[in-house]
Amino acid sequence: MTAIASQPNMQADPAGRGLAVRCRAITKNYGAGQSVVRALRGIDLDVYLGELLMLVGPSGCGKTTLISVIAGVLDRDGGECTVFGKDFSAMNSRERTRFRGQTIGFVFQSFNLIPTLTIAENVSVPLLLNGVHRRAALAKAKEMLDTVGLGARVNDTPNRLSGGQQQRVAIARALVHDPKLIVCDEPTSALDHETGHKIVELLKGVAMGGNRSLVVVTHDNRIFDFADRIAHMDDGQVDKIVGSAKELYGPNMNASHAGEKA
Ligand SMILES: Nc1ncnc2c1ncn2[C@@H]1O[C@H](COP(=O)(O)OP(=O)(O)O)[C@@H](O)[C@H]1O
Ligand SMILES: [Mg+2]
Repeated sequence: MTAIASQPNMQADPAGRGLAVRCRAITKNYGAGQSVVRALRGIDLDVYLGELLMLVGPSGCGKTTLISVIAGVLDRDGGECTVFGKDFSAMNSRERTRFRGQTIGFVFQSFNLIPTLTIAENVSVPLLLNGVHRRAALAKAKEMLDTVGLGARVNDTPNRLSGGQQQRVAIARALVHDPKLIVCDEPTSALDHETGHKIVELLKGVAMGGNRSLVVVTHDNRIFDFADRIAHMDDGQVDKIVGSAKELYGPNMNASHAGEKA
């Protein structure tokens, strides 16, 4: 038995896929002294190439903190974390920005769209940061907006769009530069059933290309079936990794019934 296989959360990948993300013993605190919050208390997690891993667990258990550390948006306090073999903490800020910009697409829970730009301009930002010329970037952004069903709204600013539409813009922006790792925080929270389904189908299609990986934080039981694996967090730790939501929540698969509202 290898050292990895001997740890409960570290199953060897049966399909022999490579690793996109490797987390070992990650810790992260907020604040200090009496008021310290131990948000991550020793996270062990692997994300394989070509998989859609969902991350679930009760509000406050550390999901957003974990994906922020993985995406290099937030510094960890301890432990190891590599993304395609690279460690953000070993990079200077310029290297970090470049690596993140080329490799990662991030869908923030609060969307983080730039209010003064049109949605086509918003979606083109990752391409511009990667040196694509403005005209080509806008053309590609419009294509991506078409894919998420917003082709008719490309010249609108975000405040003219509904929450669900803004969420789809955020998803288009996360995918437009064809990143190898896509990290999404509650990407269907503002979407109706049908739209949510379409968006996760789109995300799943991206993962199924084989050399891309997705980590999707969710408590949306309507989309659990799209997961290749589901990692369950509690109190700053990954306590279970399962192949389907039924293993976590029983046949009803309802995270909300299990007290896990976001
Ligand atoms: N910026 C912050 N400052 C202080 N505490 C925070 C901050 N962000 C998150 N926390 C705390 O860290 C814990 C984990 O939060 P979070 O990662 O947002 O959980 P989740 O996404 O699972 O709801 C919670 O107790 C939360 O209150
Ligand atoms: Mg969160």
